[in-house]
Amino acid sequence: WALFSPDIEAINRLKRERNAVILAHNYQTPEIFHGVADIVGDSLLLAREAMNVDADVIVLAGVHFMAETAKLLNPTKTVLIPDTRAGCSLADSITADDIKLLRQRHPGVPVVAYVNTSAAVKAESDICCTSGNAKKIVESLGVPEVIMLPDEYLAQNIAAQTNVKIITWAGHCEVHERFNPQEIADLRAAHPGITVLAHPECPPEVVAVSDFAGSTAAMSDYVAREKPARVVLITECSMSDNVAIGHPGTEFIRPCNLCPHMKRITLPNIRACLETMQTQVEIEPALMERARQSVERMLAVK
Ligand code: 13P
Ligand code: SF4
Repeated sequence: WALFSPDIEAINRLKRERNAVILAHNYQTPEIFHGVADIVGDSLLLAREAMNVDADVIVLAGVHFMAETAKLLNPTKTVLIPDTRAGCSLADSITADDIKLLRQRHPGVPVVAYVNTSAAVKAESDICCTSGNAKKIVESLGVPEVIMLPDEYLAQNIAAQTNVKIITWAGHCEVHERFNPQEIADLRAAHPGITVLAHPECPPEVVAVSDFAGSTAAMSDYVAREKPARVVLITECSMSDNVAIGHPGTEFIRPCNLCPHMKRITLPNIRACLETMQTQVEIEPALMERARQSVERMLAVK
């Protein structure tokens, strides 16, 4: 498929003409992930890599908060998102005003914001985290209690691994909240010996019956390291498609849920965005500094 698409040829030519790089999240379709992306990974890797991009233009093949994070970390670059409607149910679940109210209710308790948030929410937070570093970030603060928002399930999953008390918010990922423990039991019955890997945005009852929980990068690394004979990734659908291509010796069982936001990004709109140089991601100047600090503090934690 990848070799014969006129969009792929055009995108790779436009990247050279515009001096652009494409950063793609693990949930992008295989033709984007394997066909045109220069850098692929989880949210943490995309943030780190965005900071180091030397090219003039960054195309973020992912959702809006990822493009905002890239702009925060490399503000002199032109950051393009192929469809501005690529949102996220977690980012939409909380506002900057909600954080101000939480701070009034819990004076002095630091706020850890999942990177799946708007720049305005990041600006009101003390530090960001991703699913790949959440426990480390929470513990890095050296306090007995933190507010972790907006993902209730991620916060509960981290709370189960640490002595730090975690105050949660009732946001959920519309993709991962749909998985349930019965589905995992049915999978185990139908596919004996299967290894079950779950994203920590899944409800704790799902994580409890899985063999491993970790970020999209951690799930991919697990497959590369452990080479399970049969595996299911309890997450967004493209994840298995992308990982399976590099692991022909592993059988991937593929019940999954689609993220409609991630799926708004397509080869045709990546091509169009490089042709028109639209839509450019901008951050309100008043938010820029504080939002960036929150992401930079996260990246500074070793
Ligand atoms: P990762 O940071 O694990 O890639 O997750 C991002 C995301 O949106 C998961 O739903
Ligand atoms: Fe947001 Fe969930 Fe989609 Fe990730 S999978 S972008 S958390 S809605």
